[in-house]
Amino acid sequence: LPHEATVSAPVNIAVIKYWGKRDAGLILPTNSSLSVTLSQDHLCTRTTVCAAAEFGGDRLWLNGVEEDVTASARLCNVISTARKLRAAVEQADSAAPRLSTWGLHVCSENNFPTAAGLASSASGYAALVSALGTLFKLPQSAAELSRVARVGSGSACRSILGGFVAWQAGVEGDGSDSLAEQVAARAHWPQLQALVLVVSDRKKTVSSTAGMQTTVATSPLFAERVRNVVPRRMAVMRAAIAARDFAAFATLTMQDSNQFHAVCQDTFPPIAYMNDTSHAITNLVHAFNTAVGRVAAAYTYDAGPNAVIFALHDDMRTLVQLLTRCFPRPDSMPAAAFYEDPFAVF
Ligand code: DP6
Repeated sequence: LPHEATVSAPVNIAVIKYWGKRDAGLILPTNSSLSVTLSQDHLCTRTTVCAAAEFGGDRLWLNGVEEDVTASARLCNVISTARKLRAAVEQADSAAPRLSTWGLHVCSENNFPTAAGLASSASGYAALVSALGTLFKLPQSAAELSRVARVGSGSACRSILGGFVAWQAGVEGDGSDSLAEQVAARAHWPQLQALVLVVSDRKKTVSSTAGMQTTVATSPLFAERVRNVVPRRMAVMRAAIAARDFAAFATLTMQDSNQFHAVCQDTFPPIAYMNDTSHAITNLVHAFNTAVGRVAAAYTYDAGPNAVIFALHDDMRTLVQLLTRCFPRPDSMPAAAFYEDPFAVF
């Protein structure tokens, strides 16, 4: 009989950005980062893994289309790391079926349109690792499993945990201390909401993986960020979350997004992820904050033009009205469920 497990994992949004690797093979970052894991209702990946002795080899289906497993070194790394952990389980228990030697079938689906440009490797690898953890009955904690997800995609290690999550850069060469841990549960700050604004559904021109390597090699501003800016910001961000201090959380979130994009501009050749609409959203958030006389909203952008807005519940209502008036849905954009119902509340 085949053994199988199905697990979902959500997308996470970094408020202190990960950008840069000290080891590209093991995916070890140059700096720590901190993120908010969104709820599973809106942007998540659902993955089923199935192991059977009679499966010839490993196979993978992404949103119903079969992909070549061997084409992705990262995917192979994740599967072989999980198999090693399973082998230890089998060694300790001679009655345990030898799942580590069987073929695997992996079926992965996003609950959001992939065309929306939000297809995230973070939720994908987090779901895969969580599913393998369940299938293989691995004794590892979520923090320990985050190390396995990290090998698939850096930001994926943060999606293994819910709520507010810190990824410690670590100092060890083998990556043993480079893992994610929960800073606070989602229930710690229920008034905080996240809104995803789809600005463009086009695929990004420079991948995060390639972009950050060029940054490490060429940007003097990046070196300053890693050495003198991020360590202090990690501490201030943790304190802002602990105190539920929205103004401090929002200010730092905007500043860190801005510095990340400044570092991209400082990369040679420069990388531009934000577009005119992104900048217009930035200006609108600042105008809103000025109008209400306090920091009531924050924006953040990853390696693309889409915006994520953070605000407390009551302010989010007002903001959504304002945003939908200023940025009516263009005819070219499909009326995706999450655009019609933009409360991608985390
Ligand atoms: C801008 O995790 O996609 O979203 O580790 O090479 O897979 P790899 O990169 P990835 O980079 C994410 C970068 C970011 C910031 C962040 O999520 O912290």
